Amino acid sequence: MLTKLYPMVQFRPDTWEIDEFDCASMFLLIGTEKAMLIDTGMGIGDLRGAVEMITRKPLIVVLSHGHIDHTGNARQFDEVWIHRKDADSPMPDSLQRRRSDTEHIARRQKSSIGAPYTMFHLYPYDINVDLRDPSPDEKMPVIHELKDGMQFDLGGGRIVTAYECPGHTPGEMVFLDEKNRILFAGDALNHNLLAASMPAETTLRALKRIQDMSGRYDGIYNGHHDFRALGMPLDDDCLPTVIEILEDAVHGHLAPCQTPSFWGQDIPLTREISDMPAFPGMGKMITLRRGRCWVHINPDSILENGSSPS
Ligand SMILES: [Fe+2]
Repeated sequence: MLTKLYPMVQFRPDTWEIDEFDCASMFLLIGTEKAMLIDTGMGIGDLRGAVEMITRKPLIVVLSHGHIDHTGNARQFDEVWIHRKDADSPMPDSLQRRRSDTEHIARRQKSSIGAPYTMFHLYPYDINVDLRDPSPDEKMPVIHELKDGMQFDLGGGRIVTAYECPGHTPGEMVFLDEKNRILFAGDALNHNLLAASMPAETTLRALKRIQDMSGRYDGIYNGHHDFRALGMPLDDDCLPTVIEILEDAVHGHLAPCQTPSFWGQDIPLTREISDMPAFPGMGKMITLRRGRCWVHINPDSILENGSSPS
């Protein structure tokens, strides 16, 4: 039997953060009529079973983007919603890659920068059992296209609006629960933000749009709790600091720095990442830092018109 023992916390009424053992965070929002699950993790355990322990209401599953650690258990559900620009992502990615990332994250969380935010140092799952390829009866879900401004009515006035926020991936989406004043950001924002899939100018505009909505939410919850406690939002410095970093880049102020060794390896100031299968076609990447935020961008793709900033 697959584990359902995810650490989880109800941080607002009918609003849960489900922690996939420090790999990724999923969010469950329950209205009077329907429920919504945001993201499906790396694919460890019985996510659907865990959700059904909390609610049996009809479930809408949305994917913030197409990365390996957000689509892993998508096949446990009949239908999912994702932006068309991320819809070609494998669901799930290869078992080998998911296993490697899962082991890396467990090691990282026990030893380095993520450790203060780790729930447990003993993960209650068996990687040989709970992380697996889909069984033959777990078919690809029906894919629905998420679009900017699309609204999902969960009942009782709980309406969740999806917004495009490209940067981390071209099809990255965020979700605004206006009644409860929460923004669910997927990987569009974090203190350690990979934003090399789009020109920095595009990422900047998308994040400024999110900032312009700040009167409609009190907290931002992103898709990992590596820089925040479970059930707590990102600190208020995160969004404005990331925006400052990107504004600097767009104005030609680039001071690449070395990234902290999140994965236990030395990372050069400029690195080619074209050999990383997770990030095809992104080319070079540099890391920019301000305060306690790091943003990784492609120095060859800063302005949308392709010219170099002056
Ligand atoms: Fe991601």
